[in-house]
Formats: sequence, structure tokens, C-alpha cells
Amino acid sequence: MICLRDMIPSDIEDYVRWFTTETEWMDWDAPWEWEETTEEAERRDWTEYYETVKKLPPDAPRKKFEIELDGRHVGWVSRYFDLGYLDNPEQIPAVGINIVEQNTRNHGVGTEALRQFIDYQKTHGANCVYTQTWSGNIPMLRTAEKLGFVPYARVKDLRTVRGQKYDALTLKLDLYQEEQP
Ligand SMILES: CC(C)(COP(=O)(O)OP(=O)(O)OC[C@H]1O[C@@H](n2cnc3c(N)ncnc32)[C@H](O)[C@@H]1OP(=O)(O)O)[C@@H](O)C(=O)NCCC(=O)NCCS
Repeated sequence: MICLRDMIPSDIEDYVRWFTTETEWMDWDAPWEWEETTEEAERRDWTEYYETVKKLPPDAPRKKFEIELDGRHVGWVSRYFDLGYLDNPEQIPAVGINIVEQNTRNHGVGTEALRQFIDYQKTHGANCVYTQTWSGNIPMLRTAEKLGFVPYARVKDLRTVRGQKYDALTLKLDLYQEEQP
């Protein structure tokens, strides 16, 4: 079973691992963005973050959820409004996802987790959502396509990954599109 939930204390050490030793996912999620860090810094930051999540009232809107697969913490979903190279005057949420544990990828987990998070955005008033990636991230593009996202904006050659140029991509999903007859 795939479910989204708030952070729990045991997730802290997962994040320490995911940001220091098991970092393969960073080769795919904005690989131009990551900086050197230490276990101590990550443990401190994620413990602080956990403390803020713990204080959230049950009905407060969440900007991030942990992804659990059959009781195992495998990644997270999050939303943001700063689209970087694109203005977002209507404050349309952009959704992001990471399935960190590699042996759980390509089994439909990412698509289902993102579907649940998009439903959550809809429940909280969104009419549409964005997602952003780069042209070399085929699994993310396929995941977005399966959920019905369509291309919205492209900046040619904006990203350099492992010495090669890729396009920056923003895709959009209308949450109230009419059913095709
Ligand atoms: C992108 C990501 C969230 C997708 O999650 P997932 O659980 O693997 O996704 P799913 O299994 O639901 O779907 C992946 C699809 O990509 C396809 N795919 C994966 N690798 C592929 C490749 N090299 N070529 C073509 N298709 C590929 C899979 O076959 C599947 O499509 P299908 O259902 O039609 O067979 C996950 O791969 C991930 O977290 N990657 C690392 C971090 C990352 O890239 N995050 C997104 C940053 S924008």
C-alpha cells in the first residue's frame, strides 16, 4: 500500500542517509543544485524540520508529505510556488517527488504517490498544478505524462548535467479538464 503521511522520528536518519551517502537520486532531481554537507548538519536540520512538522495542527495545509510503501519510508512529495525561470503570479502550486530507494522505482509508486498529492492540492483549492524537470529525466517525464500533464514551458539548454546540455521543462495539469467523450 502506498500512502502519504507526516514525518515521524525514524525518518530523520533516512534523510541523513539520503543527503550524505545514498545520494544517487540527486543525479536526477536538479543535479545542478546540490552542495556538500555533513551527517551532523543534516541530522540537526532534519531534527529541526521534524519539530516544526510535529507542531502542525492536524488541519493545517501541508507542503510536504513522506511516501510510505507497505510501511517503508521510500521518499517524499512536496509543493512550491517559486518556479525559478518562470513567473507564477497566480501562485499555482508546483509538485515535486523523489522515490529515493532505487529498488522501489519503476513499479508505479511514484505515479500513485504523485496522484495522491495532486488530489490533496485539489482538495485544498488548486485548479491546476505544475511540475518541473529537465529533458534528460525520462522517468519523471513519463510519470507526468501518465498523470495527464502537458508541456507548458521549455527553456532550451538551460541545464547542464554531466557535461551535457538539457532543456528545463515545466508541465501543467488542469484538474478540472472535461472528460473526453
Ligand atoms: C521520477 C520518479 C519519481 C518516478 O517514480 P517511479 O515510481 O519510478 O515511477 P513509475 O514506476 O510510476 O513510472 C515510471 C515510468 O517511467 C518509465 N521509465 C523509467 N525509466 C525509463 C527509461 N530509461 N526510458 C523510458 N521509460 C522509462 C517506466 O517504465 C514507467 O513508465 P510505464 O509505467 O509506462 O512503464 C522516480 O524515478 C524518482 O524519484 N527518481 C529519482 C529522483 C527524481 O528524478 N525525481 C524527480 C525530479 S524532477
